[in-house]
Amino acid sequence: MQNQRKYLITGGCGFIGSSMVRNLLEKGEYVINIDKLTYASNEKSIGDINLQNYKIIKSDINEPNLIQNTLNADKPNYVIHLAAESHVDRSIDDPSNFINTNIVGTYNMIHNSYNYWKNLEKNRRDNFRFIYVSTDEVYGSLNINDQVFTEKSPFRSNSPYAASKASGDLLARAWYKTFKFPIIITNSSNNYGIWQFPEKLIPLVIKKCLKNQEIPVYGDGKQIRDWINVEDNVSGIISVIEKGKIGSSYNIGSTNEISNIELVRLICSILDSIEPKKNGSYEDLISFVKDRPAHDFRYALDVSKMRNDLGWEAKISFNKGLTETIEWYLNNRDWLLNSIENKYDGARLGIIKE
Ligand code: NAD
Ligand code: TYD
Repeated sequence: MQNQRKYLITGGCGFIGSSMVRNLLEKGEYVINIDKLTYASNEKSIGDINLQNYKIIKSDINEPNLIQNTLNADKPNYVIHLAAESHVDRSIDDPSNFINTNIVGTYNMIHNSYNYWKNLEKNRRDNFRFIYVSTDEVYGSLNINDQVFTEKSPFRSNSPYAASKASGDLLARAWYKTFKFPIIITNSSNNYGIWQFPEKLIPLVIKKCLKNQEIPVYGDGKQIRDWINVEDNVSGIISVIEKGKIGSSYNIGSTNEISNIELVRLICSILDSIEPKKNGSYEDLISFVKDRPAHDFRYALDVSKMRNDLGWEAKISFNKGLTETIEWYLNNRDWLLNSIENKYDGARLGIIKE
């Protein structure tokens, strides 16, 4: 294919990474995917389109020499670094993997990519971009009347996960400032969509409903998240590669705030209409459980920089996107129901009802 570009993706078998890989392969781009294949990954999530343009390297991003050797051999035009430990509850129980992958691994990605980039010939060097995919959780928590987070909001990360991601943001900034390495950071809000591992709220609720088990809602359920469809996040990241300013960060969100309890009730009512429960409503399964320590009350993003500077905005309406997502999980229920049963299914730290 003419003008085919090569992307080195890390974490391409995860939830957002696989959506990115599918998007790029469908467009005829070439993808090299480095993924350690942790519990959160699924090789099937890549799909089956244009696999002649796809290469997977099953390895840890911290494997000595791997990143340098891969960059030198495959010569990508872009690096999109998504690999991470991503679940807040796990970061509370055991932060060590979060430090190794999200901080040391991100350093390893950035510094080796910098060494590769600085030796490229001028045209390739000018066009190269390193995208660090981060989160709105770096900014900390908002109260109900606070102004939403902009790219200038200070970092007030509260969980080990958020702190580990914020460390990556700071490393990315430093490599741009010190070495002029062409990094761009994206800070997106909570993603939802297909292939999300069912320890995160939305697939977990669907799984609990199908298993007729209690749906664990932390605390009073009034915490607010700002949900974006994963495909919108991917299109935002691609706009940032194509039009973003190097050294900048971009908030990617959908301006779609909803409290956890309202969201859980919405999922239950959609399921009630698609696949009714034998007796009563799925809402009857809701169970308020002990709160998560340092549970951030509210995340919400100002996305005007993406809209004004890059002409990007999220396109998928929440109600439609959520209904299609629920239908997908119903159609893929074997995977949903047989995902490894572990303690992150509402029984974290012995949670279930106080
Ligand atoms: P995920 O947990 O679904 O997937 C992570 C992927 O990274 C998995 O395929 C896993 O095998 C791989 N991985 C983990 N450690 C690795 C290592 N040491 N070496 C190589 N591969 C490794 O995560 P996700 O939800 O797809 O998130 C992707 C990125 O987006 C993360 O950096 C996350 O912080 C960020 N993010 C996620 C959200 C969200 O709502 N899911 C929101 C904002 C930002
Ligand atoms: P989660 O999907 O873990 O994403 P994050 O913590 O990164 O926002 O959780 C989304 C929200 O749902 C968060 O406020 C915690 C809450 N939650 C529950 O109430 N019950 C659960 O079982 C889970 C996993 C999350």
